[in-house]
Amino acid sequence: MIELINLNKKYKKKIIFENQKLKIDKLGVTGFVGESGSGKTTLLNIIAGIEPYSGNYLINNKDYQQLTEYDEAIFRSKIISYIHQDYKLLEDYTVLENLIITSIESNKDQKIEQLLIDFNLSQYHDQKIKQLSGGEKQRVAIIRAILNEPQIILMDEPTSSLDDLNTNYIIETIKKLKDRNIKIIISTHDSRLKPIIDEFYLIENKQIIRQNNHHISDDLENNFNLQYQNKTHKDFYQYIKIYQTRKFKKIFI
Ligand SMILES: Nc1ncnc2c1ncn2[C@@H]1O[C@H](COP(=O)(O)OP(=O)(O)OP(=O)(O)O)[C@@H](O)[C@H]1O
Ligand SMILES: [Mg+2]
Repeated sequence: MIELINLNKKYKKKIIFENQKLKIDKLGVTGFVGESGSGKTTLLNIIAGIEPYSGNYLINNKDYQQLTEYDEAIFRSKIISYIHQDYKLLEDYTVLENLIITSIESNKDQKIEQLLIDFNLSQYHDQKIKQLSGGEKQRVAIIRAILNEPQIILMDEPTSSLDDLNTNYIIETIKKLKDRNIKIIISTHDSRLKPIIDEFYLIENKQIIRQNNHHISDDLENNFNLQYQNKTHKDFYQYIKIYQTRKFKKIFI
């Protein structure tokens, strides 16, 4: 599905990733965690094909940099959708206009209407984006991302600014996408998402470090759930860090 080989990334002199590899080949939800500034968004941007890098990025066994124009169009429309942290919706346009503009096929009206109903947004379809709440914008961004039925959806901190109600909404949506065999890749600090993430990577010190879930003992898992249910993002990160030093002496890459 996704493979990065010998990935190097820097902004001017600042190195973000150094000789990293990453292989994501299973369905379900993959989560990237790490401190602010560690490179989570940069990594999602590279996977989305919107950020230069050096090394090799294979998407469905094809080298991204060798994709033909046709394959790249397929990649953008049918393979990967990206829900940015700030949604990147067109603020002065209506919900419907935002969805129609990004839809690759015509005659999507019925599908759009159904999705607006499913996401509890049908009363807003002629409302401008700038008049919506954060949770409503997030839902429009999700509809836009799933409209073309991509194989993979990237979500950058999908719940960081949402209350518990809207976060539960996102969690339920992610579960539904998972049931439809859409691969989800998330960057997050949010412990509320922990239960739906199947595999974690910690981004730290220019490395992408696999956290092997099979090594999570029941005790630790329970502790996590009990202790971190209502804790802050920072606590979540601390936990992952402690966890890593205690349990993952071995680096799984
Ligand atoms: N276009 C850019 N030019 C220069 N430096 C950049 C650029 N984009 C990101 N950076 C830097 O690269 C580092 C990684 O940024 P990135 O946005 O990937 O972090 P992040 O893990 O997503 O952080 P956060 O949790 O705050 O969203 C940061 O130090 C950031 O300042
Ligand atoms: Mg970020």
